[in-house]
Amino acid sequence: MERKPLGRTGESVAAIGLGTWNMGGRESPDYRDDERVIQAIRYAVELGMNHIDTAEMYAAGHAEELVGEAIKQFSRDDVFIATKVWPSNLRYEDVIRSCRMSLERLQLKYVDLYMVHWPNPRIPLQETMKAMEKLVKDGLTRYIGVSNFDVELLEEAMNALKKEEVVANQVEYSLEARGVEKELIPFCERNGITVTAYTPLGKGRIPSEAASNTKKGRTLAEIAQRYGKTPTQVALNWVIWRPNVITIPKAVKKEHLEENAGAAGWRLSEEDYTRLSKAWS
Ligand SMILES: NC(=O)c1ccc[n+]([C@@H]2O[C@H](COP(=O)([O-])OP(=O)(O)OC[C@H]3O[C@@H](n4cnc5c(N)ncnc54)[C@H](OP(=O)(O)O)[C@@H]3O)[C@@H](O)[C@H]2O)c1
Repeated sequence: MERKPLGRTGESVAAIGLGTWNMGGRESPDYRDDERVIQAIRYAVELGMNHIDTAEMYAAGHAEELVGEAIKQFSRDDVFIATKVWPSNLRYEDVIRSCRMSLERLQLKYVDLYMVHWPNPRIPLQETMKAMEKLVKDGLTRYIGVSNFDVELLEEAMNALKKEEVVANQVEYSLEARGVEKELIPFCERNGITVTAYTPLGKGRIPSEAASNTKKGRTLAEIAQRYGKTPTQVALNWVIWRPNVITIPKAVKKEHLEENAGAAGWRLSEEDYTRLSKAWS
């Protein structure tokens, strides 16, 4: 699996990882599919998609439990585990408690990346970031990140940190969701921050569009054919085209996991990248 730098840490992460929203339930746990989900997470790691993204909110903690169960057979260094604290838990003590509870569910001593899931204007970022630094100091997370932060908030978060850096900002980015393209991605690039693109397949809408006879679909299909790739692989490759962007598509189906893993390790030409950008704008 192709790897990309994680912020300015000197470390690299898989260009394509795995998202876990909707695994083990949505807002509450649903245990019916557990075995299948565990197998899917294990298969993703075996395919090299070892950056697993989860959150305390996903299935009210059950997604983290499934990740924990799935990865315990691997060596700790062979997985990169990222999780997030929900905006109602951004007070100092709440951040610490949330992280400890996530670690318990994940059966881990530390996570690799701990992120603020969404900003909360009612709680000062200074307070939250102080807690995040304490987590790094105590060895509960290796790195600090944020999610759904615009440039202004990101700068505030960066300034609130004394010793550590914001290494990643997780935001929605795909052929159909381009809000971060003009300002946020270039800002992150200039400041050595990794952009983790979420919902890179538009929750499955982009693969469906690729199969349809629209201009968007036809452009994807035509480019895919020339590269000997599938339209979905081209759509994911487009997402990770910029040097500081990685992504975390969610997939449970075996054929989806295999297809997604094949979306990295090669590059669309600048001409094709631009053509796709225009066709989908
Ligand atoms: N920070 C945030 O606020 C935030 C918000 C949303 C999402 N996220 C993160 O980002 C991850 C990914 O986003 P997402 O789950 O919203 O949507 P997504 O990854 O764009 O789409 C997931 C859907 O696409 C399907 N799929 C996966 N690979 C496919 C393929 N090769 N061909 C056809 N369909 C395919 C999946 O099906 P199967 O599962 O059936 O294989 C699933 O239904 C989440 O799981 C979560 O970890 C973060």
